Amino acid sequence: MNTKNPSKFDTPFKKEVFKGLTAYPKYLSSKYIYDSKGDKLFQDIMAMPEYYLTDCEHEILSKHTKDIADYFGNVKGGYDLIELGAGDGKKTKILLKLISETETNFTYKPIDISKNAVESLTEKLSKELPKVNLDAEIGEYFEVLERLKTFKSRKKVILFLGSNIGNLLHPRAIDFLTKLKDTMNEDDMLFIGFDQKKNPQTILDAYNDAAGITEAFNKNLLARINSKMDANFNLDKFKHWEVYDPETGTAKSYLLATEHQKVRIEAIDLDVNFEEWETIHTEISQKYDDKTVAWLADEAGLEIITDFTDSKEYYKNYLLKRK
Ligand code: AVI
Repeated sequence: MNTKNPSKFDTPFKKEVFKGLTAYPKYLSSKYIYDSKGDKLFQDIMAMPEYYLTDCEHEILSKHTKDIADYFGNVKGGYDLIELGAGDGKKTKILLKLISETETNFTYKPIDISKNAVESLTEKLSKELPKVNLDAEIGEYFEVLERLKTFKSRKKVILFLGSNIGNLLHPRAIDFLTKLKDTMNEDDMLFIGFDQKKNPQTILDAYNDAAGITEAFNKNLLARINSKMDANFNLDKFKHWEVYDPETGTAKSYLLATEHQKVRIEAIDLDVNFEEWETIHTEISQKYDDKTVAWLADEAGLEIITDFTDSKEYYKNYLLKRK
């Protein structure tokens, strides 16, 4: 491997793939699952009956729409409703519809890393809710967080739905929440979804569906390395594996090499050796309880105003503000 040639790492994706696949144990970041195929697979996951998270959050937003909108408030000067990782915005639409009917002065600012998602959301929303002021952006959360600092002129309500926070280990979640808090003024709010601890079987079923959609989603990481980095991963020689620890609330996804094999990744000049049953850790999906959320918020300089849950109490949305 010629590390002196910087052009081999001309993207963060290449750099991270090199780092993760030369580490022991091996790992890859789940953020790279999301190209247009990964986005589509995630849409399919959200539509699966086993993936309860989407339905639960949908139920919360439908059942408590007015309460939630009242908490956001109808402040003089209006507010910016900023959604991080907006995806298809399906759930947010329920809120947008109601808020736009109350003559509240607000701008909806969905932000997503996926150009695809932002474009189709913009197209759909301008047709379905033409009254909503829309100002979408394509970007990485942390880049956007920097830019959020310039939106201090009026109240901000930040939405972070889908338990996306769960894809971060606690220290990174605290870091993320702290950076969010740093972009917030006294009256600003953060409305955020945290999937709750529950029967471990329910969680395992959500992340290990019988139809193999989650497996294809996880393997899209390898497919993407193949297409972006001229690599020769044989997807059939890897198996999706999910574990859940009910004590810590951490669900972890792995890709397991089902036989000894070598993979060539041309673009980063790397040969990767896999022993039989060797793992690549790809994703964490953290599950929470009230104590843990209160601790994360406190560490980040935030406090809980209130929370909303679904009828099965599988999922909670918390409303937070600066301490
Ligand atoms: C985006 N994120 C919150 C999902 C989750 O539940 O961790 C991604 C996902 N991975 C497998 N299924 C869904």
